Amino acid sequence: MEVKRVMVIGAGQMGSGIAQVCAQAGYDVIMHDVKEEAAKKGLERINRLLQRNVEKGRMTEEEKTETLQRIALTSDLQEARDADVVIEAVVEDMEVKTKVFQELDNIVPDHGILASNTSSLPITEIAAVTKRPEQVIGMHFMNPVPVMKLVEIIRGLQTSDETYATIREMTNKLNKTPVEVNDFPGFVSNRILMPMINEAIYTVYEGVASPEDVDRVMKLGMNHPMGPLTLADFIGLDTCLSIMEILYEGFGDSKYRPCPLLRKYVKAGWLGKKTGRGFYVYE
Ligand code: NAI
Repeated sequence: MEVKRVMVIGAGQMGSGIAQVCAQAGYDVIMHDVKEEAAKKGLERINRLLQRNVEKGRMTEEEKTETLQRIALTSDLQEARDADVVIEAVVEDMEVKTKVFQELDNIVPDHGILASNTSSLPITEIAAVTKRPEQVIGMHFMNPVPVMKLVEIIRGLQTSDETYATIREMTNKLNKTPVEVNDFPGFVSNRILMPMINEAIYTVYEGVASPEDVDRVMKLGMNHPMGPLTLADFIGLDTCLSIMEILYEGFGDSKYRPCPLLRKYVKAGWLGKKTGRGFYVYE
């Protein structure tokens, strides 16, 4: 199937990045958000990032204008009626996502593919609320979307080969590298990353080392560009906890138990950079 029109649902941090890379690749994009204000803010974010590209000589002023002209904003889901591919990037909440998928299923044309950017929720379960589970797939972009090369493509139990092939081709066109992954808790990325972050939190909890020293060991000793606790603060400690809960529940294995210190910080409202305090303090 040839993809021409793409709709992105949710214009937050991830949705706006996805809309940007799709428009840069030449797709006609509709960016949707329940909040009109959020869609406008998303477009402003895209504008700022494109402007920076122009200033750094990575793109011409004309290319920037053309890219922006390919993005339309809406708060009306009915505009999905002409979409070939819809990429959902709303909040990480199963109830909200399944409601969006049920509504989209009734609006999107029969050939349309419904993709989710979820970082941890089961694609198979999201697909099951639609009448087209073979056309539902996970498209897990990394943050920040315009910079990061990877897209984890998650095949639900019923995802068809044709759907997978279309999304793989689209990902290549976005100048990203697709990696095929089956639908199991945490996929590949978070199944490996989150237990490492959780273990880093345990080392602080048990008094083995300070957050600064844990990060120093992983940066200088393992060549990680960012220490695990700095990364956790960036991702958001609430997000880290919810992904650990999904791994713990999904596999029923105690090796995935979330560290009590992580729970304590989340209860205290220390969610990382976004609240000004996590393992570090942010001005
Ligand atoms: P965000 O909070 O920045 O954006 C979510 C947007 O969705 C908000 O603008 C909100 O108004 C909108 N929204 C909420 N309910 C909606 C609905 N029913 N219909 C339309 N729009 C709705 O969140 P973020 O960080 O962009 O995350 C979005 C998704 O991407 C989540 O599933 C998350 O797990 C996933 N993800 C996040 C990553 C990250 O590093 N932040 C990385 C990879 C995936």
